[in-house]
Amino acid sequence: MEFSQPVIELIESRSSWRSYKSQPLEPELRSQIVEYIKQQTQGPFGHNTRFQLIEKDDPLRIDNASFGTYGFIKNALNFIAGVVEKGTRHWEDYGYNLEKIILKMTDLGLGTCWLGGTFKRSEFGPLLKVGVNEVIPAISPVGYGTASRAIRDRVIRWGAKSRTRRPREVMFFDGSFSRPLPAVAAGKFDRVLNMVRLAPSASNRQPWRIVKIGNMFHLYLKRARNYSEMVKAADLQRVDMGIAMCHFDLVARETGFTGKWVEQEPNLDLPELAEYIVSRKIIG
Ligand SMILES: Cc1cc2nc3c(=O)[nH]c(=O)nc-3n(C[C@H](O)[C@H](O)[C@H](O)COP(=O)(O)O)c2cc1C
Repeated sequence: MEFSQPVIELIESRSSWRSYKSQPLEPELRSQIVEYIKQQTQGPFGHNTRFQLIEKDDPLRIDNASFGTYGFIKNALNFIAGVVEKGTRHWEDYGYNLEKIILKMTDLGLGTCWLGGTFKRSEFGPLLKVGVNEVIPAISPVGYGTASRAIRDRVIRWGAKSRTRRPREVMFFDGSFSRPLPAVAAGKFDRVLNMVRLAPSASNRQPWRIVKIGNMFHLYLKRARNYSEMVKAADLQRVDMGIAMCHFDLVARETGFTGKWVEQEPNLDLPELAEYIVSRKIIG
């Protein structure tokens, strides 16, 4: 098994953590991390990813405390950073794989925080030896979180309304975008949808929309207006879609469903700023 705890519990217990103890990782834990991230080499759309555990050379250097994150992350000594080769759905592939890693870190009892905007690509780039056809969509600190959240963390969370999620009626639909999908109509599969709903997303915008037609679930991205202008270096809302796919896959598997991702766009009237991503036929 990939995780020692049910993935549903990991999803429910994960939250972004922005302050860390200045304590190096135990060597055994460190090896487990290195081993796990090394295995995440390809996303569901087939783009190659590679991840690296970045360690600060000198934990005692105070001015290092905000290394690479504009002070958004306090005292982290380690980061998981990676690259993906550019292609058609590379943002989604990276989102999928880094979220899997983040859930694994949660399983290991470690704190994490997706960072797509507030980190310096220029500082991480050389450490990752980014190739000409590669990009760094996002990274995450990893380490022992402090017992309580730092004030700055609380302010960020308040600003992004991080504790809340959109109601399911605006996220999941039955047959078309004009009909919300009632929990009963989703049946046993509702568990999977709820776990997609709890996923982290850039600025907590939750751009995932899912339309159920028969035993097919069609995933759409509904972009937040002007959001892509804020972070130009990465399409973070497509990274969010990869994160949703990761939750979908892991929870579907855990709850006994099988199936695979296919490109089979239905002919639907789309809401403004919505675009089709991928579909999943559910067997189970
Ligand atoms: C793709 C992506 C990029 C993110 N970028 C940042 C960031 O640059 N800085 C930050 O403080 N948080 C960032 N976050 C964290 C989100 O704000 C957070 O996931 C969201 O508010 C929900 O809170 P939770 O993770 O505690 O559930 C990012 C999250 C995702 C998924």
